[in-house]
Amino acid sequence: MASSLDGTVALVTGASSGIGEATARALAAQGAKVAVAARRLERLERLASEIGGGGHTALAIQSDITDQEQAIEAVGRTVDELGRLDIVVNNAGQMLLGPIEDAPTEEWDRMIDLNLKGLAYTTHAALPHLLAAAEGSERNCADLVNISSVAGRLARRGSGVYNLTKHGVGAFSESFRQEFADRRVRSTIVEPGAVDTELTDHIREGIREEVRGRFADIKTLAGEDVADAIAYAVTRPWHVCLNEILIRPTEQTG
Ligand SMILES: NC(=O)c1ccc[n+]([C@@H]2O[C@H](COP(=O)([O-])OP(=O)(O)OC[C@H]3O[C@@H](n4cnc5c(N)ncnc54)[C@H](OP(=O)(O)O)[C@@H]3O)[C@@H](O)[C@H]2O)c1
Repeated sequence: MASSLDGTVALVTGASSGIGEATARALAAQGAKVAVAARRLERLERLASEIGGGGHTALAIQSDITDQEQAIEAVGRTVDELGRLDIVVNNAGQMLLGPIEDAPTEEWDRMIDLNLKGLAYTTHAALPHLLAAAEGSERNCADLVNISSVAGRLARRGSGVYNLTKHGVGAFSESFRQEFADRRVRSTIVEPGAVDTELTDHIREGIREEVRGRFADIKTLAGEDVADAIAYAVTRPWHVCLNEILIRPTEQTG
């Protein structure tokens, strides 16, 4: 039986587009107040006002979570302005694909800073609040949802450092799960296949077209499809933890 998110507060990073934006809508629709964080404030404000117009509550927070101070501030504002924190969706990520040979290593820094360090900083800052929510709420649990990828399970040529970061997300999430299982902070790893978002826009020219071509002939997922899986996970009763969700388009083989 699904439990409602009424009375809960969720923080979604990378909520200015794609999976994060859809997840914020989905969690709000279940009754959660949502803090939506990313760098593009205008997009966040538009989303927050749309969610507000639907009778729910959303707070736009401009934050570059690669900067630990800003990740701490995003969590702090969520708790100060929305009152608590029950669910964190660590979704912000970049996928700057390309061969290891001759790679602009500045792209590696960006992925490591966001996909790994930003996720870890946000988790670290949120942890006391998640523990308090699990301890003191009727829901009897709290949730950490980390967005990995099929690339967190399967390495492929041309994806070296993205694979490195997403395998890292899986390892961190499982370690977290074991550390906090007895305090009922659930850990869910979400591993999407191809989702139609802005993610590939940032890949450098030449590689971008090749990556887009891989999925040109199949019906890819929408952000809403992944958001739906996330909403399902966090509305399970407290004793049920979906540890890992691998979600591909039906026609995706690799
Ligand atoms: N699309 C796919 O096929 C796919 C597949 C598997 C996994 N994923 C994962 O899904 C997650 C979401 O990606 P998406 O597909 O929805 O792509 P997207 O539309 O490009 O969303 C990425 C989000 O991350 C935010 N972001 C980027 N840099 C940031 C920073 N320094 N601080 C805070 N936020 C930052 C972006 O907002 P701002 O630019 O406004 O900061 C944006 O909201 C990522 O972790 C990605 O690796 C995607």
